[in-house]
Amino acid sequence: MYYDYYAGGAEDQYTLKENVEAFHRINILPRVLVDVGKIDISTSILGYRTSAPLMIAPTGMHKLAHPEGEVATARAAAACDTIMAVSFSSSCPLEEVASSCNAIRFFQLYVYKRRDISALLVQRAERSGFKAVILTADTPRLGRREADIKNKMIAPPLRNFDGLISTDVVTDKGSNLAAYASATFDASFCWKDITWLKSITNLPILIKGVLTPEDAIKALEVGVSGIIVSNHGARQLDYSPATISVLEEVVEAVQGKIPVLLDGGVRRGTDIFKALALGAQAVMIGRPVLFGLAANGEYGVKRVINMLKEELELSMALAGTCTVKDITRGHVRTQHDRPLCKI
Ligand code: FNR
Repeated sequence: MYYDYYAGGAEDQYTLKENVEAFHRINILPRVLVDVGKIDISTSILGYRTSAPLMIAPTGMHKLAHPEGEVATARAAAACDTIMAVSFSSSCPLEEVASSCNAIRFFQLYVYKRRDISALLVQRAERSGFKAVILTADTPRLGRREADIKNKMIAPPLRNFDGLISTDVVTDKGSNLAAYASATFDASFCWKDITWLKSITNLPILIKGVLTPEDAIKALEVGVSGIIVSNHGARQLDYSPATISVLEEVVEAVQGKIPVLLDGGVRRGTDIFKALALGAQAVMIGRPVLFGLAANGEYGVKRVINMLKEELELSMALAGTCTVKDITRGHVRTQHDRPLCKI
């Protein structure tokens, strides 16, 4: 049941496959005879130095993967000098994650009908030293995840909400997670409500779930600090496009005014390279981190992050790029690009 919850996507899982396969359709164009004796993959995200242009995506309930849950993930993030986004649906309280290590942490937010609960969690995150709020905007309701429906997926109690709201099972029909979400999520939350969010926190706000230039422009208009191109790991609207296929349009709309990040289907260092070439400042990693956590706790997460970092470093060397700034649009060819030359 938990494996299906982690691995699955919505409905036909078309987007789930596409997120990965769209990366396969992009080529990397290397430059040769470049001095690549020294490669530096470090960068900064919202002004925070990080060892690589990758972050841990917010994913719910890490205790389903490992008894230490988010604490193990955060320790791995700290050890690898990478940023972790902690989910609103964390199975460990935010304070416990914060005190376990010195990883830079962002807090991912869902807005509940009980706004007071969402506001309280943002304030707790801010007090515990989280550096940014990631508002997940693609989840007014939960997508139709058919494996969870068949399995009658039951979420364990979420300790993050202790004393605030009961996360107990509410139905014996279908996914309990979906039932819980429709009872709690505020489906009426919209662009004008970003003003409310800004009024309750001083932290920078990123919007996660943008897939079109129109929404990117709206995000600029409401004055957020960053955009995450994401389809929620293909768990929400099936047949939404692969994130890498829309990245460039979003980046063009944003015109460098705020950073653009991407997640969905990033499985290799070459995928990170491609996302950077198409204008992302960094990528976020979802399922691979969960699988590393399930396989071997903190060590497993470290291993996943280090594998991706090593692959990125090698790809950069082989492509003739010494720093992340050296990776340009000219280093990739998408299906929409014209052939390099007429033969
Ligand atoms: C997610 N994702 C997610 N996003 C979010 O904003 N809040 C959340 O609580 C969760 N929970 C969650 C659970 C699980 C099991 C998965 C797989 C994903 C989405 C996540 O942040 C990210 O967008 C995707 O996981 C990225 O795609 P990949 O790397 O999994 O392909």
